[in-house]
Amino acid sequence: MQARSEGLRRQGKTIVFVPTMGFLHAGHAALLQEGRALGDDLVLSIFVNPTQFGPTEDFEAYPRDMERDLALAAQAGVDAVFTPDRSELYGNDYETYVQLEKLPQHLCGLSRPTHFRGVATVVTKLFHIVKPHIAVFGQKDYQQLAVIRRMVRDLNFDIEIRGLATVREADGLAMSSRNTYLSPAQRQRAVCLYQALTNAAEMVKNGERSAATVMAAARNLISAQAEARIDYISICHPDSLEEMENIAGPALMALAVFFGKTRLIDNMILKPEKGAG
Ligand code: PAF
Repeated sequence: MQARSEGLRRQGKTIVFVPTMGFLHAGHAALLQEGRALGDDLVLSIFVNPTQFGPTEDFEAYPRDMERDLALAAQAGVDAVFTPDRSELYGNDYETYVQLEKLPQHLCGLSRPTHFRGVATVVTKLFHIVKPHIAVFGQKDYQQLAVIRRMVRDLNFDIEIRGLATVREADGLAMSSRNTYLSPAQRQRAVCLYQALTNAAEMVKNGERSAATVMAAARNLISAQAEARIDYISICHPDSLEEMENIAGPALMALAVFFGKTRLIDNMILKPEKGAG
């Protein structure tokens, strides 16, 4: 993979990279479509990264379908698919990790304390192997994108990071490989994440400035759904992810909700109208 990228770089080609854990859906297809337009060579990686799963999480159960993924990659015009084995990326004596200090101490990092260390580490490794000029990530994993942007800035990676809007099902549920875990009833109820976010955006647009009030409305809306268990609801600064009390400017609303064992996340930027409130 490194030799291939070196060759392309010598020819002056622009390499665009879309890292994934596979089980591709329309959200990934949108990343690939964007990536295709951004450069000469489009690389997709498929690797279910063990270091970003906690000991009680779904690493073993994470959905995998390499044959289907490769067909989708071909349809999307991908030039190379990188599918390393676990032992190729993490040998028995592996011991080096990339750890951010502050950004992981919010939102998903609170209930998944080793998650972003695993993400930052594997993305660093993939960047060194694929050697892209541009890498494309989805905004559904807002905190992941923030962590990667910060890491790229702090460690001087010569890579441009692009974030792409969340792709949603017709009813608003954010596309995720984990949606396949949901029972039909849970799937119907799972739209409450999107409803809570759009309702919050509307409240803020109409002049509500108290984060506590907006979060309480979201909590009520989600708790009304059978089986929904809230992991967190947060309104925070879009860059630092620090909690906000008053919504004076654009704010990130992020949430994580369990349906049974399935943990879903979603987010939206809340924008106060100028002059309102
Ligand atoms: O978003 C994902 O699919 C993963 O977290 C990533 C970025 C491929 C790292 O394993």
